[in-house]
Amino acid sequence: MRFLSVLISLLLLTPSAWAQREAAFIEAPSPDDALAIAMAGPELPEAATALLGEAASADLARAIAAANFTGEAGVTATLFSGATDFGEVYAIGIGPEDLRLRDWEDFGARAAGLAKLSGAERVSVMAPGASAEELAAAAGGAMMGQYSFDKYKSDAEPVTGTIAFVSDNASEAQRSYDARRRYLAEATLWARDMQSEPANVLYPEEFVRRARALFNGVSGVSISVLDERDMKRLGMGAILGVGQGSTRPPRILIVRYNGGAAGDAPLVFAGKGITFDSGGISIKGNSGMWMMKADMTGAAVVTAAVSSLAKSKAPVNVIGVAALAENMPDGSAQRPGDVVRAMSGTTIEIMSTDAEGRLVLADAVWHAQEEFDPALLVDVATLTGSVGRALGDEYAGLFAREDAIAERLIAAGDASGEDLWRLPLHPNHDQQIKSMIADVKNADTGAPGASTGAAFIGTFVKPDTPWAHLDIAGVDWRHEPQPTRPLGASGFGVRLLDQLARDSVE
Ligand code: BES
Ligand code: MN
Ligand code: ZN
Repeated sequence: MRFLSVLISLLLLTPSAWAQREAAFIEAPSPDDALAIAMAGPELPEAATALLGEAASADLARAIAAANFTGEAGVTATLFSGATDFGEVYAIGIGPEDLRLRDWEDFGARAAGLAKLSGAERVSVMAPGASAEELAAAAGGAMMGQYSFDKYKSDAEPVTGTIAFVSDNASEAQRSYDARRRYLAEATLWARDMQSEPANVLYPEEFVRRARALFNGVSGVSISVLDERDMKRLGMGAILGVGQGSTRPPRILIVRYNGGAAGDAPLVFAGKGITFDSGGISIKGNSGMWMMKADMTGAAVVTAAVSSLAKSKAPVNVIGVAALAENMPDGSAQRPGDVVRAMSGTTIEIMSTDAEGRLVLADAVWHAQEEFDPALLVDVATLTGSVGRALGDEYAGLFAREDAIAERLIAAGDASGEDLWRLPLHPNHDQQIKSMIADVKNADTGAPGASTGAAFIGTFVKPDTPWAHLDIAGVDWRHEPQPTRPLGASGFGVRLLDQLARDSVE
């Protein structure tokens, strides 16, 4: 029995090999390839005409017209032509405007979408005029766009082959990809795997194990983990209260990457890592509860962002703090009405055991400030349903005390393609979380829920700590696909935090 259960867990624990085409860079396509061509308008680019020859180009021009393809950005077409040697030809509209790197990511993801239709071993993608950096971004997009979590599907077909971006200087594009975009895409896929993994497999200790594996052999990184004994010693009553209703003990994982100047104050990213949020005694309804396996998205994306920065040797000092617990309602669970004392000394009346994310973060952000004196503290959390109702799928909620910090984050969101929208943090929100019998309460029945959640976390952020709070509860899981974000786990935040860290040293 024991042997069998060990065997089964070993099988379940094997990391998901991303079943997808590899990205590559080549100087010229071969006629065995399927061919995808970036088009800014209805006319084939010159480089494509030169490659295909006159007769085939004329035939393709007819196919383009027949498909009513105008090169509009985001529109793709499958072109049928017997006149070319290439078995399959696709067109990808990029429009007349210059593309930003985030748009090149989308372009690459669209190429990957077409590659899914193709039986060819290699799909060559021509985007004449694109720079090495732009093609590298496209390749990253192709990796992110192909994602699906199918390790538990018995009949999943292995996906093989490559998506090859054509460049006059393929080795430079490859270098650019290997310098950053590869790690960014891999970190995003890792975060998505963590989000998708069911909670019977992924619990706090398993999260830690996988994080250690992620950083195995990466230089400049040190990892430490707080267990329950450490938490008791430090007086972390808030995270301990959340974890006490589960048979899976809580953990705080701390990953430090020192790539910047010694002594430079670090950026600290703190993530909510509830490996399952049942609501606890304030139990949730069953509808959609399965999705609460992804309530550790914040923890996954902060860890993943540190990995992409460390693996690409970014010149920054950055620390990821993952506040990990499972929120369950067993006989030792905390109750509404309980009072706990956080590490900061602040007492908290538990109004809802379902407002647990702010509790684990209360201790994590306090500890991070005491230990690391951050140059900037950003916490990332699937904190409230309220933020999703306000902002939908398009933006994560951003809360900051200072305009300059809000602007920095919005700029990083805009550049990375993970957009933020600022929501209010008003002194009145602090009044709303005053408790009758303790210093604060963890939930208020009134609106605005996303802001009172932010205000609660702010209670544990010192007035002089530069701080931003990101509520990603609306954007952590895609219900409608986007090019680089297929259905399901989005990994939202990895690209944003990576960008923010790089911007901070420019
Ligand atoms: N994890 C949830 C928030 C959430 C909701 C994430 C939907 C993703 C999708 C969080 O712990 C929670 O339960 N929040 C409560 C707070 C309330 C009790 C103050 C909520 O938003 O209802
Ligand atoms: Mn909850
Ligand atoms: Zn939660």
